[in-house]
Amino acid sequence: MTGHLIVSDDDAIRIITMRRPDKKNAITREMYRAMSGAIDSAQNDPAVRCIIITGGSGVFTAGNDLDDFLKDSTSGGSVAPLASDAVTFLYSLVHNTKPLIAAVDGIAIGIGTTMLFHCDHVLASQTASFSTPFIHLGLVPEGGSSLLAPRTMGHQRAFAMLVMGRTLSADDAREAGFVSTVVAPGSTEAEAGKIAREICALPAEAVAISRKLLKPPPDELTRRINQEACLFAERLRSEEAIAAFQAFFARKKE
Ligand code: COA
Repeated sequence: MTGHLIVSDDDAIRIITMRRPDKKNAITREMYRAMSGAIDSAQNDPAVRCIIITGGSGVFTAGNDLDDFLKDSTSGGSVAPLASDAVTFLYSLVHNTKPLIAAVDGIAIGIGTTMLFHCDHVLASQTASFSTPFIHLGLVPEGGSSLLAPRTMGHQRAFAMLVMGRTLSADDAREAGFVSTVVAPGSTEAEAGKIAREICALPAEAVAISRKLLKPPPDELTRRINQEACLFAERLRSEEAIAAFQAFFARKKE
């Protein structure tokens, strides 16, 4: 366990669990680093055949920690956009060669939704919801979602989610094509385990080759992630974004 992340191996299945329930599993820099490490270290390990990412019961993640965003927006920019821990995590997703399954029970916000476009199978509970409030925060889409979401769900549905900030239910997300299966609340991890075992029983090399054929070329995806990340870093310093972050943390005092 590293801070708010638990990494465990169950036979050939690596399970990455975000565990920061008091902050709705909002992802900190340390969590991004630990998630990248858990994915990267699986790549040359033949004992790991499949990876599950989960938030445990009741919540997937409220997305990037907004306090970190606020600090980045007012820090004068010490970290280059493409060297941030979030972008390193996204590179880990792009270069990952192991089948990746997500188990989403509850909210998946921001990168909690965009990371799902990199997964091979997404299980969502009936109470899961998916939202990307980038524009409401004065930001732009990230994680390659501006490329992957329109390909998956068409421009208009991608626009409604990524630009208008519409929230999707589990059934909406399945209909849109980025949730594979909708299951009962509390059962996503167990169901993800069943899918993982099914994949682990297949010939590993044939799975890896086929998965690569199905995925967009890594160079194309990396270029888009970099383009988004540069624009995102600019937007983090915008008056619109700073006002939105401050409003979030002021809401309880009001
Ligand atoms: N970053 C940092 N802290 C967050 C957070 C985030 N993304 N999301 C939630 N939290 C914290 C809250 O500040 C609160 O902490 P506190 O108890 O110390 O005040 C705690 O998690 C619980 O959140 P709260 O807002 O009280 O719960 P809720 O059930 O009313 O609402 C959310 C949950 C997720 C809908 C709401 O917190 C929210 O909208 N979060 C921001 C999501 C977001 O914009 N993410 C970035 C996307 S790019």
